[in-house]
Amino acid sequence: MEDPTRRLNRTLMKRHLIFTPAIPALLLALPIAGLLTMTSCTTVPKGPPTLKDVYKKDFLIGVAINQHQFSGEDTRGDSIIKANFDSIAPENVLKWDSVHPRPDTYLFEGPDQYVKFGEANHMLIVGHALVWHHQTPEWVFQGTNGQPVDRETLLRRMHDHIQTVVGRYRGRIKVWDVVNEALDEDGTLRDSPWMKIIGEDYIAKAFQYAHEADPEAVLRYNDYALEKDAKRNGAIALIKKLQAQGVSVTAIGLQGHCNLRFPTVVQEDLTLAALGKLKLQVMVTELDVDCSRGGQQTTSADIAANRQAQIAGGLSSESLSDALQQQLARRYADLFGVFLKHKDVVKLVTFWGVTDADSWRAHGNPLLFDKHGQPKPAFDAVIRAAGQ
Ligand code: GLA
Repeated sequence: MEDPTRRLNRTLMKRHLIFTPAIPALLLALPIAGLLTMTSCTTVPKGPPTLKDVYKKDFLIGVAINQHQFSGEDTRGDSIIKANFDSIAPENVLKWDSVHPRPDTYLFEGPDQYVKFGEANHMLIVGHALVWHHQTPEWVFQGTNGQPVDRETLLRRMHDHIQTVVGRYRGRIKVWDVVNEALDEDGTLRDSPWMKIIGEDYIAKAFQYAHEADPEAVLRYNDYALEKDAKRNGAIALIKKLQAQGVSVTAIGLQGHCNLRFPTVVQEDLTLAALGKLKLQVMVTELDVDCSRGGQQTTSADIAANRQAQIAGGLSSESLSDALQQQLARRYADLFGVFLKHKDVVKLVTFWGVTDADSWRAHGNPLLFDKHGQPKPAFDAVIRAAGQ
């Protein structure tokens, strides 16, 4: 079995998608890591198809995992993860409030375990998220008097955090979400504490610090609802500006928190086509399809339309009706059809959780495995979509 980082490497080289100084270095590093971790070539009996196997020629398939999973405690999750995914993202353990809750306290036990899990299973390991307005402790933005700190202090804190966290996993975590959700719905920069205190160059600074801490890592800008025109246009303008300044932004993450109605196939297609022109890797980073409500931060019209679909399908909070299972299956098949259409730029598709029981949107039964860890019709639909 080929190591996924080697596969990503080979695919990138084949497609000449090497645009920045960071990528060739990554590519040089990967074969060595791959050789070290390659499993022996014993013949394995053929089992049922798995996600990572059926999409082997197209893109990597990732999943966000939690503490119970990377510690090995969740044995059911463990076998699903190992069989189906060749990349992992940390659901929470590398967010600022988890890894750096107090000024002088870094908690690396969980992140170390997470990284070891990925290495032991020859997976592409993603880091998430360095600079964000959520799940970041208040002290980061405040002085001892409780007032906002000045620009230089906040830049120093950002620098030290990135240097410490990215530096610790240099060469092991290959892809980082450097800045998460910097844009508002209208595509302008969100008025977050980062923005208020540092100003708009906080984004360039974060990428600069991450690049210094690990020059070979793929550095991602990650956001949700980029399928909406205003937000996507804002993201594209932001990336182009960073690129013009020589900032090492080498990937864009389309979170992909969907529902039964949003985004449409046309919106998804347009979005991937537009992001694909940016000369960087495109990754779907947090895929789920909520069957019960609106997707993350969607408009009330989206929520109402989704609610209609839910009523029509007969949702119960415990499980999905057959009609809704079929609807979810079609949605996933449609979305994967679009990802495949853009596989020249889409390098990774990551689900935000293993089973519905693990999901932050558990009420919406949004994933491919149900609350008992059983594959849903949507799982079969995604497997079948690979063959088309
Ligand atoms: C955002 C973040 C993720 C996660 C989800 C929902 O999309 O990037 O880390 O927190 O929200 O939980």
